[in-house]
Amino acid sequence: MTTTHDGPRRTRNKALLDWVDSMARLCKPDRIYWCDGSQEEYNRLCDQMVQNGTFVRLDPQKRPNSFLARSHPSDVARVEDRTFICAERQEDAGPTNNWMAPARMRERLNQLFDGCMRGRTLYVIPFSMGPLGSHIAHIGVEITDSPYVVVNQRIMTRMGQPVLEVLGEHGSFVPCMHSVGAPLSPGENDVPWPCAPNVEDKYISHFPETREIWSYGSGYGGNALLGKKCFALRIASVMARDEGWLAEHMLILGVQSPAGKKHYVAAAFPSACGKTNFAMLIPPKGFDGWKITTVGDDIAWVKPNAKDGKFYAINPEYGFFGVAPGTNAWSNPNALASMQENTIFTNTALTDDGDVWWEGLTEEPPAHLIDWQGQDWTPGCGRPAAHPNARFTAPANQCPSIDPEWENPDGVPISAFLFGGRVSKHFPLVFQSYNWEHGVYMAATMGSEATAAAIGQASVRRDPMAMLPFCGYNMADYWRHWLRIGRKHVATPPRIFRVNWFRKDAHGRFIWPGFGENMRVLKWVIDRCEGRASAIEGPLGLLPGWADLSWEGLAFQPDDFFAIMNIDQEVARQETVDQEELFTRFGDHLPREMELERELQLARLYHSPPVWDLSRALAD
Ligand code: GTP
Ligand code: SPV
Ligand code: MN
Repeated sequence: MTTTHDGPRRTRNKALLDWVDSMARLCKPDRIYWCDGSQEEYNRLCDQMVQNGTFVRLDPQKRPNSFLARSHPSDVARVEDRTFICAERQEDAGPTNNWMAPARMRERLNQLFDGCMRGRTLYVIPFSMGPLGSHIAHIGVEITDSPYVVVNQRIMTRMGQPVLEVLGEHGSFVPCMHSVGAPLSPGENDVPWPCAPNVEDKYISHFPETREIWSYGSGYGGNALLGKKCFALRIASVMARDEGWLAEHMLILGVQSPAGKKHYVAAAFPSACGKTNFAMLIPPKGFDGWKITTVGDDIAWVKPNAKDGKFYAINPEYGFFGVAPGTNAWSNPNALASMQENTIFTNTALTDDGDVWWEGLTEEPPAHLIDWQGQDWTPGCGRPAAHPNARFTAPANQCPSIDPEWENPDGVPISAFLFGGRVSKHFPLVFQSYNWEHGVYMAATMGSEATAAAIGQASVRRDPMAMLPFCGYNMADYWRHWLRIGRKHVATPPRIFRVNWFRKDAHGRFIWPGFGENMRVLKWVIDRCEGRASAIEGPLGLLPGWADLSWEGLAFQPDDFFAIMNIDQEVARQETVDQEELFTRFGDHLPREMELERELQLARLYHSPPVWDLSRALAD
């Protein structure tokens, strides 16, 4: 079988042409197709997927130009135990990453990719992370055998011919190799899933020294849309270390006060812990005149600016790949509006009138649905209708709250970094770090509870900076990079805060109403950045008193506030002692500041009362 070319090659970049040729020799596809990124191409691929059953076209009136895809049940989330950082030396991947020697991984990948695209088309997808031609942006080229990946990449990145023009004849790119995996038996090429069935051998591999990505055996989100977690975080974090910037798992939002003063805030929460919701927040009652705008909902590239000594951040993505369950007209109307048309849904349920549904979309579920596995579903049947990690892929420019500066190639100036886990017990709603070093320590020791965004997570785990699954090198070296960059590269580093929306009461209910009400916390953050609000010195950091937050429009009593802010000395002490276990894993790589901050915190806790209650602190 010889490979034929569908359409022109579209570039004279020799490195790119050579790479595509050699990958085609390896994968042996029937055809090679260079994506131009046009609407016509998008429509054609979607039609093709409707025909072979990968896509269901949704009702054109209810959900124009939108589709539903269902994954193979084994391919519904990121696979962290199959994700590898193949640095030459294991210690450069560090104790928190899976490692395999590059030579061994290459041998394995060469076996797997050999002939894996037989009978299929090899698509070449040139894409830009960041606005086209921006000095902060970087170009990648993804090779894939999945048309599902092509159409998702067109929403998630700036993609196609204009990227090749920016790349030019001599520009460099990050090669991103992807296959859904060879079918186990002949004839399984035309399966309806975005992924080949029964592929047990999944490999999401990164080569930090040569800046390459090789992903095999999954068609899902972060495993397959290689511009996102693989490039914009794992490879970019390595580039950022070498070049003096930060690649972070952060949303970016703008906050404008009634007086018209604007700040930008970037916040890192682990997967499925509220970034999309926070990025699109609508201020609640009592916040007339305040406005929140969205720059990004998942990834931030942050660069120091020598001119004004501040950090500037861009969102390298072009769309949202958001969690569907829980999204509704009360929790996140901006997300709902963003997915009104031109949207791809993955693993949601299908309604009888050709629209989508998921748990939490409406209070009353419809009387009948087709669930995410294509089965009949009725309320009370005992199965969820949508997969808990069901997602929507929607263009960012469809978001009503999108910030006017969201495509500014220079980025937006950042006033504060927030770090928040999902901690149901003992952890306060918000506190501020004493300084940059203390803030880096607070972020590094963050813990969070498991979510559906990745398969096989421990129930609670440490997730430093929400980057545990996404840091492309030794995590302790990454902390050192954070310490350095805040001290050396910016005159006034952003203020650092910890937040936790997820504390529960004795009945297992969230104490904090969350969502739009998070504005109350955000306002205190902004007030602190402007040197306006006061704070109480507590054992973990600087805390707001009851009077420091605005309560207008919310029936939240001082006692509720004290319940969500109090700190149990024994629990906090034990937690601080336990951090040693994390730190010792890094040996010599651990920056000394981390251990010093831990000891200072222990000392503060030693002198704090058994329950550090804000009502008492305020009375003192
Ligand atoms: P990734 O896309 O995986 O990175 O997730 P994300 O961090 O963007 O999380 P997202 O905003 O999609 O929220 C995930 C889940 O958390 C959804 O089910 C939300 O309904 C829920 N959630 C978000 N914000 C809050 C909040 O303030 N309080 C509570 N209780 N739940 C929230
Ligand atoms: C996450 O898991 O943090 C996501 C979804 O944003 S994925 O694209 O699968 O990484
Ligand atoms: Mn994410």
